[in-house]
Amino acid sequence: MDGRTRILIRGGKVVNEDLSFMSDVYIENGKIADIGRNLKVPAGAQIIDATNMLVMPGGIDTHTHMELAFMGTKAVDDFYIGTKAALAGGTTMIMDFVIPQKGTSLLEAYDRWRSTADPKVCCDYSLHVAVTWWGEQVKREMATLAAEQGVNSFKMFMAYKDVFMLSDQELYSAFSQCKEVGAIAQVHAENGDLIAEGAKKMLALGITGPEGHEMCRPEAVEAEATQRAVTIAHAVNCPLYVVHVMSKSAAKVVSNARRDGRVVFGEPIAAGLGTDGTHCWHKDWAHAARFVMGPPLRPDPSTPGYLMDLLANDDLSVTGTDNCTFSVCQKALGKDDFTKIPNGVNGVEDRMSVIWEKGVHSGKMDENRYVAVTSSNAAKIFNFYPQKGRIATGSDADVLVWDPNSTRTISASTHHQAVDYNIFEGMVCHGVPVVTISRGKVVYERGELTVKAGAGRFVPRPPFSEFVYKRVRQREQVCQPTAVVREPYRGKVISL
Ligand code: URP
Ligand code: ZN
Ligand code: ZN
Repeated sequence: MDGRTRILIRGGKVVNEDLSFMSDVYIENGKIADIGRNLKVPAGAQIIDATNMLVMPGGIDTHTHMELAFMGTKAVDDFYIGTKAALAGGTTMIMDFVIPQKGTSLLEAYDRWRSTADPKVCCDYSLHVAVTWWGEQVKREMATLAAEQGVNSFKMFMAYKDVFMLSDQELYSAFSQCKEVGAIAQVHAENGDLIAEGAKKMLALGITGPEGHEMCRPEAVEAEATQRAVTIAHAVNCPLYVVHVMSKSAAKVVSNARRDGRVVFGEPIAAGLGTDGTHCWHKDWAHAARFVMGPPLRPDPSTPGYLMDLLANDDLSVTGTDNCTFSVCQKALGKDDFTKIPNGVNGVEDRMSVIWEKGVHSGKMDENRYVAVTSSNAAKIFNFYPQKGRIATGSDADVLVWDPNSTRTISASTHHQAVDYNIFEGMVCHGVPVVTISRGKVVYERGELTVKAGAGRFVPRPPFSEFVYKRVRQREQVCQPTAVVREPYRGKVISL
C-alpha cells in the first residue's frame, strides 16, 4: 500500500439535496474519488456496508460558540470536546463566532480564535466574525478579513446593550461594508433597549427566576428587531442572515421578507425545533435555568412545529445550534437574578437526530430537504459548495452513513459534550449516525470515536458567494434610483 486512505461505502442510498440514488461511494485521500454501482476499488480499501442506510454529506452546524468567554464565565465545550461531540452526532463541520470586545481589533480577535481552535478541532471549521462597535478600523479590518482571511460573514448584535449592541446607524454602516466586501450580514435580532427596560420591570415585580428572562423579551421584541434588520439591509441592498430565529413572529417576518423578494435567510436552531420555553417555568430552578438562551425559547408550545413547517417549505433556510454550554453551577451565577444566568444551550451533538425526528420522521420534509437544511444550503450561502454539502466526485470526504430506522434516546449520561445536562434529555429519535467520515477518515463508528485534536482544518470562504450575490449584483445595476429630468424652476422664491 502507498499510505493513502481508501474507503468504499457499499450498497447505500446516496442522498443529496436534489436527488437520491443507490450507489457505492469511493473515498481516497480525503476526497470523494468515485460514485457508482458495483465500484471496483484497489485492494486493501476499508469496506463499509451501507445496506439499508443513507449516505449523506456530513452535517454543517452554522452556529456554535465553543469555549466562549461570556457573562462572566466560559462555555464548557471547548473546540476539542465540542467537535468530538459534533462528529459523534454526524456533524463534520462547525462554524464558530469570533466575538471581539467593543473597541478592540477584529483581526487580533480572529488570530486569537484561530490559535485557540486550530490545535484542538477534530473536524473542519470556519469562523464568522462579530462587529461589536463601529469605526474606520473596523471597516478596514472587515475588508482585510474578507479579502485575506476567508471570512465572508459578519454578525451584528441588536441586543446585549452596552456590551455588543450596535445602533441603527452603526448597523447601516456595517451592512453597507458587508455589501462592499461581498459578505453576508448576520444579525442577532432582539431590541436591546426594550430588553433592558423589561428586565428592570420584571426584577421590580419580584420576578427573579428563569421565566423572567422570556417575560422581559417577548416575541414582539424579536420580531421588531428582525423587521428593522430586514429594512436596513434592504436600504443598502445587503444580503441578510438572521441567526437563531426563535419565535413564530420573527419567523413570519423572515418568511414575508422572502416573499417580498428580499435576499434574506433564516436560521432556526436545534433547540428551537426540538423543545420549547415552557421549561423555564419549571418549579426546579436548575431545570428551568438550563433552557435560558437569547432570544429565548418560547413558551408557546406550537413554536417548534411551526418553525419546522417553515424550514420544510424554504421560508427558513438552514439549521445551526447556537451550542454555547454552561453547566448548572455556571447557570447558578443567576440564581437570584435571571439577568445573570449565562445564556446558552447545547445542540451540536444532537442537531442531526432532532431534525430527522421532528422534520423527516414526522413527514414534514423528505430526506433531500433534510440534506439541504443540515448541510448543502449552508455550504451554498457561505460559499464552500460543492466542496462540502454534497456527495460528488471531488468533494471533501465528509460523509455520514445514517440509519433512518434505528432509534436512540438522547441523554446527558451518554452524550460526548462537557455540559452536565442535555436539554433534549429523554427524547427518542429515529435516525442514528452509524459512521461519520471526516476528511476521508472514519472518526466515528457504531459508538466508537477515533478522533485527533488538530485533525480538522480551517475552511476559508471567499467573498461574493454566487448563491447570495447574483441577485444583489443585478439589483445594484438595474435598481439604482434615478432623478426625474425636468426644467429648472424659474418662478418666484420667497426670501427668508
Ligand atoms: O444564548 C445565546 N444565544 N448565547 C450565545 C450568544 C449568542 O447570542 O448567540
Ligand atoms: Zn446571538
Ligand atoms: Zn450564538
